[in-house]
Amino acid sequence: MMRVAIIGAGYVGLTTGVALAHLDHTVVCVDKDPDKIEALRNGRCPIYEPGLQQLMLEDAARLSFTSDTASSVANADLIMIAVGTPAKQDGEANTCYVEAAAREVALGLRAEGSYVVVIKSTVPIGTNRRVALVIERTLKERNVHANVVLASNPEFLREGMALKDTFYPERIVVGAEDASAVEAVRRLYRPILEQTFNPPSFLPRPEGYSLPPLITTDPTSAEMIKYASNAFLAVKISFANEIAGLCDKVGADVTEVTRGMGLDSRIGPQFLAAGLGWGGSCLPKDTAALIAVASQYNYSLPIVAAAREVNARQRLLIVEKLQSVLRVLRGRMIGVLGLAFKPNTDDVRESPAIELVKLLVDRGAHVCVHDPAAIAKAQEALCGVEVEYAKDPYEVAENADAVVLATEWEAYRSLRLPELARRMRSRYLVDARNMYRRDEVEAAGLIYMGVGR
Ligand code: NAD
Ligand code: UGA
Repeated sequence: MMRVAIIGAGYVGLTTGVALAHLDHTVVCVDKDPDKIEALRNGRCPIYEPGLQQLMLEDAARLSFTSDTASSVANADLIMIAVGTPAKQDGEANTCYVEAAAREVALGLRAEGSYVVVIKSTVPIGTNRRVALVIERTLKERNVHANVVLASNPEFLREGMALKDTFYPERIVVGAEDASAVEAVRRLYRPILEQTFNPPSFLPRPEGYSLPPLITTDPTSAEMIKYASNAFLAVKISFANEIAGLCDKVGADVTEVTRGMGLDSRIGPQFLAAGLGWGGSCLPKDTAALIAVASQYNYSLPIVAAAREVNARQRLLIVEKLQSVLRVLRGRMIGVLGLAFKPNTDDVRESPAIELVKLLVDRGAHVCVHDPAAIAKAQEALCGVEVEYAKDPYEVAENADAVVLATEWEAYRSLRLPELARRMRSRYLVDARNMYRRDEVEAAGLIYMGVGR
């Protein structure tokens, strides 16, 4: 088994670290955020991600946490960089955290040691080479020689099902110039590639799951696979949203339309759910980054650009739906259910729900919000925005002129809709995620408004 150091203990780094420890590797997770490390050392998972806290405690014997990169990498066989790559003003991905991490790693490498450095962060084309250069220069400054090979190993996990995607991926991609780097990554993931590990008690191997392929390629193609995949997902959702808009006009039901489309195996049923649009820490930033890379080559990506345009208008569409029935929004009471960018996470980065709340407040509405997990993070994101936070979902309906379902948490599926209706002043339920059935909503005495239905 291998000794692994993971730099950056966020959604990706921590999930990967915990999963690798479960595969019997010895893992040290490094983060420069002292509060995060303190929480992790106390056995508390700093993010809401199903199963992560439990597995972290179960595999604690092979997991440690520190803020000290240098000491953690010295004795590692494989070092993984999983720090953030947020967008710069112009959309380009900011690789300064990756480069800083690379330098800190190089400061800790032992003379004559052999290391594999794996880049897991989503990074623009060419970052692999850039990281190699940073490491080489830093070693030179130290007057130290070490054998370092690099690999790109992009991550495809989804928040809210991060462990499931890690243990049961559909593919693992590794891009490297050096065959020994590919072999190291293969060794690292062998228990997953061959499915020889004991599944966590709460995460049995899905029925019919087949062994994932290891795609080996050059670093540039690996980096491109990651961006192209996220851009395609964004395009797919935006396409469903574009069709939903037309469904609204002609009187078709987009959920029926996409069901009919998705049965064609060339199209597939996933990522065709129309609604408030896509958000999160990845699709928005990665589509922007891809466009920024293209522009450096004097090349345009009109399809990706259009997907972003359609996505931006989805939030406005919900505001317009409210305006069409309530007319003036100023002084209206609007309840919003769900703030996370999607269910099963407390992440509100680029959350469509948060953007909707801001638009409503801008138009003078009084907004009352609820979320089962994301309130703390939402309070930070909505700092300075006057919003009321409800303790339970029924509270958002109190005297409301309309309630908007903005994030399709499972808990909202089983709401007592008649109780919601009873508390409201006027009874518009805007189902911005097409989660409810029209007949059940109407039977509760509410007026149903979906997206493209
Ligand atoms: P995150 O913001 O949750 O975590 C990044 C962590 O890195 C933070 O805790 C930060 O304190 C730490 N960090 C930054 N610089 C550091 C340094 N020099 N040394 C040690 N720690 C440092 O980010 P994330 O969501 O885990 O994303 C990480 C990368 O993975 C990004 O490039 C992202 O695009 C990509 N990615 C994310 C997801 C996802 O679902 N979140 C999925 C696939 C890929
Ligand atoms: C996405 C990708 O799905 C992952 O494969 C990738 O690893 C990750 O980005 C990343 O690179 O970070 P994630 O951001 O966690 O994962 O969330 P998704 O499940 O992709 O959802 C993104 C957004 O699209 C959410 O706001 C969700 O509500 C929305 N969505 C999703 C729709 O509006 N309709 C759909 O049919 C599916």
